[in-house]
Amino acid sequence: MSDQAEMLRRIVDNMNNGLPKAEGLKPEKRARVITITSGKGGVGKTSITVNLAIALSRLGLRVAILDVDFGLANIDLLFGIAPKYTLLDLIRDEKSIFEVLTDGPNNIKFLSGGSGVEELMRMDRKKLRKFMGNIALLDKLYDIILIDTGAGLSQNVMSFIMAADEIILVTTPEPTAITDAYALVKMVSRRDRKKIIRILVNKAETAREAEDIANKLIVVSEKFLSLKLSKLGYILYDDTIMKSVKLQKPFCLSHPRSQAARSLFALADVLVDYNRSMEDMLGARGFIQRVLSFFGA
Ligand SMILES: Nc1ncnc2c1ncn2[C@@H]1O[C@H](COP(=O)(O)OP(=O)(O)OP(=O)(O)O)[C@@H](O)[C@H]1O
Ligand SMILES: [Mg+2]
Repeated sequence: MSDQAEMLRRIVDNMNNGLPKAEGLKPEKRARVITITSGKGGVGKTSITVNLAIALSRLGLRVAILDVDFGLANIDLLFGIAPKYTLLDLIRDEKSIFEVLTDGPNNIKFLSGGSGVEELMRMDRKKLRKFMGNIALLDKLYDIILIDTGAGLSQNVMSFIMAADEIILVTTPEPTAITDAYALVKMVSRRDRKKIIRILVNKAETAREAEDIANKLIVVSEKFLSLKLSKLGYILYDDTIMKSVKLQKPFCLSHPRSQAARSLFALADVLVDYNRSMEDMLGARGFIQRVLSFFGA
C-alpha cells in the first residue's frame, strides 16, 4: 500500500506542475466517459454496463465502472464480488483511488458511488483538490469509464448525463420506456443539442422491432427537438441473462456464445470504431468537475 500511496503522490505532484500545452504536443491522455442511462427503470442498464465492460476489455481496452445508482448496489451483485470501499472512502480522504477500486473480472475495476455522491458537495477546498488529483489518475489508468446511473430525470442523474462525453440511452419496446426515453432526450436537448446520445434497444422480440423503435426515436427527436440521436444497436430478449444473474456472472463470460453476448460484442465494436480524439473528450477529471458544477446549479 505505501508504495501505491507513494506512486500516487508522485503522479499527482507531476500533474499539478501543469505541463505546457504547446502546439504539436500530444494531448494529455484522457479516458472516454460514457454514461449509461434510461428514462424508465429496469430496462437493463446495469446488465449492459457490466457486459459492455467485459466486451470492451476483450478488445484490449482498460475499463473502469462507476456505479452512481443510489438504489441497490447492483454492479457488485452482477459480478458476484463484494467491494470493501465506496466513493465515500475516497471523498473522506481515508483511501486512495487504488484502494477504493474493486477488482472485477477481465481486469475491470469498479467503484460504487453509494452515499458518497451526496457527500461530493460537502468537500472543502483541500479535500476537493486531493479528490480531483485521485480522479485525474483515472484518465491515466483507464481508456473507458462507464457510468451506470439510476433511471429517471432527477437532478443527480441529469448531472451525470450532462457531464459525460457520451450517453448510451437504453429503452425497451414497452411504450412507457419509449416515452420516458424521449422525455429524457427532451431534457438533454434543452441544455445541449450537440450531446452524443446513442440509442440501445434492449429486450426486443425481433431485430425489426428494435430497428423501428430506434428509428422512431431518431426521427421524432430530430423533428421536434433538433437533436440528432444515433443508433448503437439492440439486444433481443434472452433468457440467458436471467440465468447469468443467478450465477452472479456476466453473461459475456458465462455464456459468450449466447445471442445476448454476441450482440454486446458487436456493440463494443461500434463504440470502439467511433474513435474520438483526446481533445474532444473531457476525461474523468473534466467529467467530475462538470458533475460538481451541475450539482451546485
Ligand atoms: N435482453 C434481456 N433479455 C432478458 N432479460 C433481460 C435483458 N436485459 C436485462 N434483462 C433483465 O431485466 C432485469 C433488469 O435489468 P437491470 O437490472 O440491468 O436493469 P436496470 O435498467 O439497471 O434497472 P434499474 O433501473 O433498477 O437500475 C434483470 O432481471 C435482467 O436480468
Ligand atoms: Mg441498474
